[in-house]
Amino acid sequence: MLSALKPQPADKILQLIQMYRDDPREAKIDLGVGVYKDPTGLTPVMRAVKAAEAKLWQTETTKTYTGLAGEPAYAAAMAKMILGEDAAADRIAAIATPGGTGAIRQALELIKLASPEATVWLSNPTWPNHPSIIRYLGIPMREYRYFDAETGGVDFDGMMADLAGVKEGDVVLLHGCCHNPTGANPNAVEWAAIADVLEKTGAIPLIDLAYQGFGDGLEEDAAATRLIAARLPEVLIAASCSKNFGIYRERTGVLMALGDPALKPTVQANLNFLNRQNFSFPPDHGARLVTMILTDAELTADWKSELEEVRLNMLTLRQLLADALRAETGSDRFGFIGQHRGMFSRLGITADQVERLRSEHGIYMVGDSRLNIAGLNRNTVPVLARAVAQVIR
Ligand code: LMR
Repeated sequence: MLSALKPQPADKILQLIQMYRDDPREAKIDLGVGVYKDPTGLTPVMRAVKAAEAKLWQTETTKTYTGLAGEPAYAAAMAKMILGEDAAADRIAAIATPGGTGAIRQALELIKLASPEATVWLSNPTWPNHPSIIRYLGIPMREYRYFDAETGGVDFDGMMADLAGVKEGDVVLLHGCCHNPTGANPNAVEWAAIADVLEKTGAIPLIDLAYQGFGDGLEEDAAATRLIAARLPEVLIAASCSKNFGIYRERTGVLMALGDPALKPTVQANLNFLNRQNFSFPPDHGARLVTMILTDAELTADWKSELEEVRLNMLTLRQLLADALRAETGSDRFGFIGQHRGMFSRLGITADQVERLRSEHGIYMVGDSRLNIAGLNRNTVPVLARAVAQVIR
């Protein structure tokens, strides 16, 4: 049986982790996978997470099973963080999932269960694991225009034209904030127009919210999701705590399905069923830490202030990089980096130039020229700017 297996293509993002580790050069720079690094190059455990862990160690009396959906307190805390204090609980069915990827996977399985004919529409480009899972599940898929490589901004007219052609009942996958891989995001007026077109076509939004707090702020980054949740009758939200709580390996995510309150018991039963089929109970440790942080005023305040430091550090690096590239290239070609939000920006250089950055300069980024801003620091910004100027010459 095993001899029948075909080789699998390596994941373009995760592959970089190993290549970087294997590179013996001292001065190498890792701008690949989306992991936050502080100015000293470490990915720290956040203070509030450490404090919650210490408390949990003291107070936890059992490791017996939770519910199939995870702890209700976790889902409630996440609903408040994402949808706001007055989130209508009677509309929301939710499951804890292994990370944001787990939430996306369960969302797609729910779509397949409820509506096997539905096409899922993806932004072009999107996080490569989106199409990969969709293809694996055999779900029909199409793309809508999203990125304008000329300006480095959103191709809003193209996006609207393509979304207008979506069939009723089809699913539109949106990045709630901090678009991955481009870093380009619709503004508030554009989000309202996106909600209009979704309403008009009867499409169902699936919002991937993996970077809340990394763009314009914790509340600001949830604004588009809240708007769409308020306007549309049915909305799926797949959220991750990997980045904003810095608990990557704990695999902490949530899938929320918003709809008619009368349907909630059945929707919840289907979500529980999907968890049971795939892994039974979702991981608990990270979800418990997040719940402890979000339900304790002191821990919440400390977490928010550290998250804000992280966000502001990334914004500073964006500005420094945009300025350094302007100085090195003598042009404003990369000015969009200062306007982008989140961990990523797509530089818009060729795959060959990305390859030269790696081979000649030891600088690692994804082949589509996506770079992880949070992998930089004040010392590496000028090195990157000089190297980019050299390879595009
Ligand atoms: C990324 O895009 O780098 C992150 O979301 C990590 C991942 O799983 O790909």
